[in-house]
Amino acid sequence: MLKVAVVGLGWWGRIITGLLKENSKLFVARVVDVDPAAEKFALGLGVPFSNEFEKTIKSPDVQAVVLCTPHSQHCEQIVRAANARKHVFCEKPLALNRADVLKAVAACNANGVALAVGHEKRFEPPILELFGMAARGELGTLLQVEANFSQDRFLSMPADNWRLTEKEAPAGPMTATGIHLLDLSIGLLGPADNVLARVRQLGSALVNGDTLALQISFKNGTNALISAILATPFEGRFAVYGSKGWADVRDKAHPEAPEGWVLTSNIRNQQKTTKEYPPSAAVLANLEAFADAAEGRAPYPVPQDQMIENICALEAVFKSARSGNVERVENR
Ligand SMILES: NC(=O)c1ccc[n+]([C@@H]2O[C@H](COP(=O)([O-])OP(=O)(O)OC[C@H]3O[C@@H](n4cnc5c(N)ncnc54)[C@H](O)[C@@H]3O)[C@@H](O)[C@H]2O)c1
Repeated sequence: MLKVAVVGLGWWGRIITGLLKENSKLFVARVVDVDPAAEKFALGLGVPFSNEFEKTIKSPDVQAVVLCTPHSQHCEQIVRAANARKHVFCEKPLALNRADVLKAVAACNANGVALAVGHEKRFEPPILELFGMAARGELGTLLQVEANFSQDRFLSMPADNWRLTEKEAPAGPMTATGIHLLDLSIGLLGPADNVLARVRQLGSALVNGDTLALQISFKNGTNALISAILATPFEGRFAVYGSKGWADVRDKAHPEAPEGWVLTSNIRNQQKTTKEYPPSAAVLANLEAFADAAEGRAPYPVPQDQMIENICALEAVFKSARSGNVERVENR
């Protein structure tokens, strides 16, 4: 049983602590937040509350941290936790630039602790099936990804919320939703070579931008076309096209409360098929995979190279959104 401290008890930290109630692999030993108002939530949970990160990571009762804090803090918190020999699960994005992700990964490796990241889409059953189809060669040579992750949840946030700021969330919807699709694309197509991003404020009061169009060109010559919008109702789609066939996963609801998926595939000379997937707790599956890695039962399924390449490409997306130009990715 991995004893964790959940750090950051906002939207996602509360979802995660809820999911971990009575879990057989992870036990929430502490919750940490700098906002004293979060203590009331901790009381309701019956879990000791602290507002001191440093004290928490020094505690022998804590073996790991689950970081659900603002993006610009991730790198430093990963390094501090790793140096205190605590395993780290960090919500996405691991860092906001290449230099920081390299620092964070190096600190975890130097201290022999596991590092995991909140890309739960990797654990969704139809996405696992799509990756399996690609790996087994059923789709032939992979040609192109088309994907969309949109939602309108941020429309009701106060304008000064950190998630709506250029400092914490460059390129508008990118760190909220686009990053999940970038992660899946890198998982399928490998390291990115260059990116072209356009962020516009078209249909809301979100001055940091509500509409992202992103083209990523990969080193193997393929492309991913990613759409992420914060001013339209929920949409979730990830499709990959290959020389023998294609597969398309559609989410029925946000990962916060999954309602299942539909996987459609069309392989040349076969009947087009549609498969329904019931809801499945992908966020929890990711956390359990982290516990398995921390306790030496199985390697964490997302390779570190891909975690790093994701942030290398993310930095180029930020540059392109600012410059309006195609920007090269500085790879690992
Ligand atoms: N994987 C997903 O699908 C998913 C979904 C939502 C959010 N997230 C990620 O979760 C993270 C948190 O986002 P959120 O929407 O819950 O934000 P939030 O603002 O709702 O919560 C952040 C919390 O962190 C606390 N905090 C800030 N600095 C802190 C510090 N130094 N130590 C301890 N607590 C601190 C704040 O007081 C707040 O309660 C982000 O990385 C975000 O991208 C992931």
